[in-house]
Amino acid sequence: MSFGNETTRRARTQPFLRSLTRHARVPLRAFEEASDQANGELVRLNMGPFRPYLVTHPDHVQHVLKTNQPNYIRAGMFWDPLSPLLGTGILSDGAGWSASRSILQPVFTARYVDSLTERMAEIVTDLIDTVVVPGRPIDVADTISALVHPTIVRLFLGATISDADIERLAPAYDTGVTARSIRLLLPFVPQRFPLPGDSAFRQAIRTIDEVVYPRIRYAKARGRHANDLVSLLCQARAGETDAERLIRDDMVAIHGAATETSVTALTWVWPALDAHPEIAAKVYEEIERVVGPGPVTMAHLPRLAYLRMFVDELVRLYPPGWILPRTVVEADTIGGVRIPAGSTVVLSPFLTQRLPEFWDRPLEFDPERFAAGNGRGRHRYAYFPFAAGPHSCLGPRLFQMEALLLIAGILSRYRPVLHADGPVLPRLASTLRPGTGLSMTLVPTRSG
Ligand code: HEM
Repeated sequence: MSFGNETTRRARTQPFLRSLTRHARVPLRAFEEASDQANGELVRLNMGPFRPYLVTHPDHVQHVLKTNQPNYIRAGMFWDPLSPLLGTGILSDGAGWSASRSILQPVFTARYVDSLTERMAEIVTDLIDTVVVPGRPIDVADTISALVHPTIVRLFLGATISDADIERLAPAYDTGVTARSIRLLLPFVPQRFPLPGDSAFRQAIRTIDEVVYPRIRYAKARGRHANDLVSLLCQARAGETDAERLIRDDMVAIHGAATETSVTALTWVWPALDAHPEIAAKVYEEIERVVGPGPVTMAHLPRLAYLRMFVDELVRLYPPGWILPRTVVEADTIGGVRIPAGSTVVLSPFLTQRLPEFWDRPLEFDPERFAAGNGRGRHRYAYFPFAAGPHSCLGPRLFQMEALLLIAGILSRYRPVLHADGPVLPRLASTLRPGTGLSMTLVPTRSG
């Protein structure tokens, strides 16, 4: 692999549409095939009128996310359809993003996240009591969503939000992030041309706004008494022109960034335990030893070292944000390949985190990779489930707390029995969910 001063050349183009057709049932395979053939080189994927550049080598990932980051913006076909939902703040780019980042980054400190954890533990424990139906098959994704979504909403939008409002938000977000998926396949259709899904998308935004704006006004009126996110943002933006809309944009964007990703990651826990009984046994043993019959509290979390490694490995093989698209501002050269201005480059934690050049036995699920000292010598950009550089995720610590609380909370009381006919494969969507309709039964470990 070369990288640096050699003469520039055009990228090799791969007939990607053809391989998508061949792998119609599991389209992700077409991406894996493209990555195998690219072997770390920058290649161009021929998708008919749309020909993005696929970036997999960690040196190139570093170039896009960090070294020359301002040249690779979040705009274009993947981002524009969602901009009416996400607004002009933390999930946009340019001045609006920068202003939001400078407010939010100091908020999401380890100290702040830790201050939420005890409350999060209580919420998760209560929810496990109400949501889990023991001894009967339950839909994995629905159950995890019913645990994660209200937890995040209560932490971000305040403890006094009503159950009815929480219930309205979940489906509205779901519609918000999925209704315009068709535009991803038809990127050349201008935004102003109506397509199916547009009116559901607009209705979802109305519903979200009907819940979020009153919470902002409530937090403003109440003043400096709470440490939920909406109150902190109201304090940070006090006196700013258009403050309510700016707070709304960040609340909605962060909620979206926090829930869909967490639900996806935590849905993979169950097929991973099912497929690796010897690893599952270690997870169960640790939880039994540290948490016992529960409830799990913040004090248990530092001692759940193996579970932490399990979660790190989970988001290596199944990173929820599996694809990170960027638009190129000015022509650039990466790894000797010329990239014209206006092109789309696509980074993929899913592909990079499986490259054999950087990962020993890349397809094997092995939490020990993340044991202390085992990552020595690993390329910093061979693992980026939470992105990296100026746009890096603000939520890794919050996610880690939430994951440990939720998994240990469930497994301190139940053993999962998965109902699947064969290996569970990832389904290609905006995040990398397991194939639809996955169910399991949670069997109580203790009677009474
Ligand atoms: C498994 C859980 C999560 C994963 C895998 C994940 C992954 C990511 C990734 C890949 C990005 C970069 C997206 C891009 O620039 O294209 C990102 C950005 C972001 N994430 Fe997360 N995330 C997770 C959970 C959370 C949580 C719990 C929060 C709550 C605070 C959060 C807040 C954000 C924010 C605010 C950004 C935008 C940062 C910026 O552009 O400045 N994420 N996340």
